[in-house]
Amino acid sequence: MDQIRIIGGSPLHGVVEVGGAKNAALPILAASLLGGGECIIDHVPQVRDVITMTKLLALLGVEVQAEGERVMLEASNVQSIEAPYDLVKTMRASILALGPLLTRLGEAKVSLPGGCAIGTRPVNLHLKGLAMMGAEVRVEHGYIHAKASRLKGARIDLDFPTVTGTENLIMAACLAKGTTSLHHVAREPEIADLCAFLVKRGAKISGAGTDTITIEGVSELQGAKHWVMPDRVEAGTFVMAGAITGGDLTVKGCVTDHLGNLFTKIQEMGVKLAEHAEGVRVRRTAPLQAVEVKTLPYPGFPTDLQAQMMALMSVAEGTSVMTETIFEGRFLHVPELQRMGASIEVDGPHAVVKGISALTGAPVMASDLRASAGLVLAGLAAEGETTISRVYHLDRGYERLEEKLGAVGGQIQRIREVA
Ligand code: UD1
Repeated sequence: MDQIRIIGGSPLHGVVEVGGAKNAALPILAASLLGGGECIIDHVPQVRDVITMTKLLALLGVEVQAEGERVMLEASNVQSIEAPYDLVKTMRASILALGPLLTRLGEAKVSLPGGCAIGTRPVNLHLKGLAMMGAEVRVEHGYIHAKASRLKGARIDLDFPTVTGTENLIMAACLAKGTTSLHHVAREPEIADLCAFLVKRGAKISGAGTDTITIEGVSELQGAKHWVMPDRVEAGTFVMAGAITGGDLTVKGCVTDHLGNLFTKIQEMGVKLAEHAEGVRVRRTAPLQAVEVKTLPYPGFPTDLQAQMMALMSVAEGTSVMTETIFEGRFLHVPELQRMGASIEVDGPHAVVKGISALTGAPVMASDLRASAGLVLAGLAAEGETTISRVYHLDRGYERLEEKLGAVGGQIQRIREVA
């Protein structure tokens, strides 16, 4: 398995560019299943989860062609209804095939994703919503098996604003008979991006980006071209990389509106941010200051930036508190940060971080996608050498991270496993 080796202590300088959003690309690619006609998707990040999604789509009968950041899809001949365990277990977002397959073909069998490192992550709200639209949903032999000759529009109030749950129900409603109104849904910008693509395909959707979305079902969708929005989690990670190393870094393609909460906290920590035509410039000359942060659904502080923020808190002056409200068990990076000298105490959903003057490099292990990014930031700031193993977690969602950070002065490289 590949490792990432970092020699800490070099401030980052220059311009680093954000790629397309993984969490927007995945539902948009899944939405190709909704009908024939060529879909051309640009600015698709070349990350492992995207490759897994294209493999799944090909298995279901979609003709998929990828050329760099462009993916072309043609789903006229989709016949298979089954997303198998082998693929689903490597990527929970495979659940995004459920809504489109069911509404297009009248039946879908998608493996239950099962447990994952950051918590139980159930999909009950996806299933409840589809059942309210008239689907007969059974869970048997490890699979979700849903059937409906044609879904019917319904009013659905979500108990919690689940992101992929909202996306599954929107896609299902596009081809349902009648109007569906979804209430208390997730407001993440990736959902608005998915809706923009669906509207180009001929779907009738209003309210995207708000907590109430209305979809008037149509009988079919056509092909469309779409450019995927920039990745706000990658952008936020770069902003924090500039902040933790005390550099002067411009993050190109960073959409300020998508990261309001992070920016408030980063500025509270003493980091200077300035918006430019090119992107956001991040500078720090004084020590970082402690802050209190709570993860929340958008527009709150994203759980996907929690581990990275804890790396910053580890070296901030004073005592910081991180409260994780989205996923229980999403503190797997804590023992690894402790190996680097961080002083962190976890009590249920709270982590109390007493800032120290410097972390020290150590061999550490990545446990999930965003935890890995937290360890990269810690390594960039630490004294001496850090090696991160199990970087396949990082490769699921970050595109050439070591190259991008290396190009702006980070001493970071991938050590490839010799086969
Ligand atoms: C998406 C993102 C992921 C991000 C997460 C929260 C994608 C591909 N992934 O994941 O990067 O960390 O949003 O911002 O976009 N829940 C239920 N029942 C359900 C569904 C969810 O109880 O049916 C709970 C989950 O256990 C969790 C919370 O809702 O506690 C949020 O999960 P959800 O928004 O569904 O996350 P994902 O869509 O899986």
